[in-house]
Amino acid sequence: MVTYNPFNPNSTVTPTLFAGRSDQTLQIISKLAQVKRGMSSNFIFHGERGIGKTALARSILHIAESKNQRSENLNFLTSYYSVEKGQHFRTVLQAVLNQLTDKLPKPSIERLTDRLGDLFKRGKFSFGAFGMNVAVDSGQMGFPLDEDNIEQHFKDQVVSVLTNILLGLKEVEKQKKYDGLLIVLDEIHNAKDIQGIAQLIRSITTTLDMNDLGNISFIIIGYSEAIQSFFEGDPSARRSFDSISLTGMPHEEAKEVLTKGFDEARIGYDKKILDEKVKLAGGYPHSLQVLGHNLIEVDTDNYIGVDDWGEAIGEAARELQDKEFLNLYNFKGKQKLREEILNILAWAMVPVPKSILAKEFPSNIHSKSCLPELKKSGAVKEDPETGNLSLHSSLFRSAIFFHTVNKSSFIKNEKWWEICQRITKRLKPDEIEG
Ligand SMILES: Nc1ncnc2c1ncn2[C@@H]1O[C@H](COP(=O)(O)OP(=O)(O)O)[C@@H](O)[C@H]1O
Ligand SMILES: [Mg+2]
Repeated sequence: MVTYNPFNPNSTVTPTLFAGRSDQTLQIISKLAQVKRGMSSNFIFHGERGIGKTALARSILHIAESKNQRSENLNFLTSYYSVEKGQHFRTVLQAVLNQLTDKLPKPSIERLTDRLGDLFKRGKFSFGAFGMNVAVDSGQMGFPLDEDNIEQHFKDQVVSVLTNILLGLKEVEKQKKYDGLLIVLDEIHNAKDIQGIAQLIRSITTTLDMNDLGNISFIIIGYSEAIQSFFEGDPSARRSFDSISLTGMPHEEAKEVLTKGFDEARIGYDKKILDEKVKLAGGYPHSLQVLGHNLIEVDTDNYIGVDDWGEAIGEAARELQDKEFLNLYNFKGKQKLREEILNILAWAMVPVPKSILAKEFPSNIHSKSCLPELKKSGAVKEDPETGNLSLHSSLFRSAIFFHTVNKSSFIKNEKWWEICQRITKRLKPDEIEG
C-alpha cells in the first residue's frame, strides 16, 4: 500500500520524529543555558555507527535555535559541518567560519570588514599559513614560521575572528540578539590531524572565556575508537569536554521511535505486540528505523498487528544480512558452532566472560576455527582488560535477532538458547557491566 513512510534508516530524523534521548538532551540544554550566560562549554558525542549521534545533534541544534520557553529560550547562531576523509582541521574551521558569516547580522559583518583586513575579503575568510601561504605570512610577520608558529598564528587568527563575531552579536538590537555560537563538527574521525584538535578547541574557547566572550560551544562527534586520538597530546582537554556516550536506547524510548512514526503516518498499532517485538532492535536506532520502514511497507489496513510484525521482521532480516554480514554468519544454511556462539552472544545482551562460554563448549571453543576465527573476522570483539566477549556491532546483533526469531517459532527448543539462558543467569549484575 502506498502511504507516507516516515521511517528512513539512511537519513537523519527531523526534530518532530526524534524520540527519546531525554537524559542527554536535558544535560546539554542546561549547559547551553550557561553558555548563554557566558560560560563556554564543549561536548563530545561518541558511539558506534547508527547509534544516533547525528540525530541527537540535529535535535539539539533545533532546540538551540528555537527560542522555546520550555527549553531556556535558547537562541543560538548555529553551524553544522561534516568532516571529509583526510581533511585538515584548519580547512574545517575556515569552512565553518565562512558558513557562519552567511547567517551573521549586519553589525558582525561590519566589524569583520573593519577589523580583519586581508583575512576577511568580500565576505569570505581566507586564513594564511595553510602551508602554501607560509612565505607570505612569515614575510608579514617579520620572522620565519615553523610548524608550531603556524599553529599558534592560526589559533590567534581564529580567536580574533570569533572575538569580532561575538562582539558583533552583542551589538545587535535587543529583540534579535543571539545567545552565542553553537558549532557542530560531525565525523571528526575523518580529520587527518585529529590529535591536535581537542587542544586547539580548548585553547580557543578558554581564551574567549577569559575575555568575557564565552558564549560559544562546540559539539564534536565521532566513533568511540577515535576519542583516544582526539585527546592525545593534551590530557587536560578531557576536562573541557562533556562526554556524551551514546548506547542503545532504553525500552520506552525505543518504543517511542516507532510510535512517533506510526502517529505521524496516522496508523494504529497493537500496543502489546509492539511492547514485545520492539526488543528485537536492541534499542539500536538504525534497526528501529529499518523495522519501522518495513512495518509501514507491509501494512495493508492502517493497523500494525502481529502479521505485519512477522513479515516486516523477515524483510528487515533480509535487508541487514545481504552484504555486510555475509562472511560473518551463515544466514542461509544450517547453524553450526559459529552461529550458535554468535546467537548466544547476541541474545545474552551483555558482554559474556570468555571463561563462562568456554565452560559450555569445553573442547571446541579454543580451536582455531572457533574463537580466534570469530575475532579475526571481526564478528566478535574481546575486551582486552576483562576478557569479555561481545558482538562487533548493534547492527550485527539486530541482524541475528531478526534472523533467529524468524527462522524458528520454537527458538526456546534450541540448544544454544538453553545455554544462553544458563549463561545469563550466571552473570550477576556486577559482572554485566563492561
Ligand atoms: N532519537 C532518535 N529518534 C528517532 N530516530 C533516530 C534517533 N536517533 C537516531 N535515529 C535514526 O537512526 C538512524 C541512525 O542514526 P544516526 O544519527 O545517523 O547515527 P550516527 O550518526 O550515530 O551514525 C537514522 O536513520 C536516524 O534518523
Ligand atoms: Mg552520524
